[in-house]
Amino acid sequence: MKILIRYFALAASMLLMVTVQGQSTWTVPDAKKKTPNPVKPTTENISLGKNLYNQNCKSCHGDPGKNNGLPLTPKPVDPLSDQYQKQTDGEIFYKMQTGRGAMPNFKETIKDNDKWAIINYIRSLKKGGKTAEAEATSEPAVASATNTDTLTQSASSASGNKMAISLTIHTEDSTASIYLSELSSEGKRIPAAGVEVGLYVKRTFGNLPIFGDDIPVTDANGVAIVKIPQGLPGDTIGNLNLIAAVINTDQFGKVEATVAASFGVKTPIVDLTEETALWGRSKKAPAYLLITYFSAIIIAFGTMGYVVKEVASLRKYKKTV
Ligand code: HEC
Repeated sequence: MKILIRYFALAASMLLMVTVQGQSTWTVPDAKKKTPNPVKPTTENISLGKNLYNQNCKSCHGDPGKNNGLPLTPKPVDPLSDQYQKQTDGEIFYKMQTGRGAMPNFKETIKDNDKWAIINYIRSLKKGGKTAEAEATSEPAVASATNTDTLTQSASSASGNKMAISLTIHTEDSTASIYLSELSSEGKRIPAAGVEVGLYVKRTFGNLPIFGDDIPVTDANGVAIVKIPQGLPGDTIGNLNLIAAVINTDQFGKVEATVAASFGVKTPIVDLTEETALWGRSKKAPAYLLITYFSAIIIAFGTMGYVVKEVASLRKYKKTV
């Protein structure tokens, strides 16, 4: 019996050594995996997370979705990759807390809440799905997303002058974040700061600006956040087409992106048989209106008839003279 226990202990310790040395998978204790994210992914929090990611993680992990991390072994994986995204929030948090190999630990250097903000940012990329900037094309392109179930919706467009705009709608706190980027001289996409951008609702005759008196200007990260006002009239199912656009089209050309968002108030189409419709049927008109109308008609035609009759009698009078 004793021998059996000893054998098992040996086997177990060997297994442990193999996993530690091999460093193939980075295992996180189950309890830590389940740590819930205590920070709500508001727009402000996500943009804070984005800043922190760019300062602390981007140098190794690269731009999300571009797979351009440093060529280390093991590789710092792209935050948008499945390997990265399939981890729980608690797992990513634990890995930031402990670090391993070339990956430093951020236990002291980043506050806990800020670590959760980075995780929120990383998750927001996945949910939006379309936040990746569009490649610059010679013609302005307008993309639109109509899936109203997701937390964020976004669309991007780019124009010949190398500016690209992306619009993301956050249904949760009804804000729109507009991200503007431009191609640098080295051909890299960099945030375009200090550019005036507007948010509009598409209307039959022109676009209605909804950003209020203060014109939004992109910050150092190329981001401008605009609160979407409540109670905008939408179509019959409450959909609105929101447009983000660079205001100074003389300088930058037409740069805009459109997203269909389910923010509007439902606007019913007026039924043709509706009582209050201008063309409502006569049987729905009140009696006093009908009486007034028909008496006016009778008086008018009666007067005309009388005039004609008098003119005719005038000719008869001429003959008798
Ligand atoms: C100095 C380079 C470097 C920096 C900076 C860095 N990482 Fe890493 N990261 C790595 C490397 C290398 C690995 C792979 C480590 C391993 O598997 O042993 C890694 C792995 C990870 C993993 C695990 C991925 C997986 O597949 O299991 C996560 C999560 C992670 N990093 C998050 C972050 C976050 C968040 C930041 C910023 C706060 C950051 N890293 C900053 C180099 C870096």
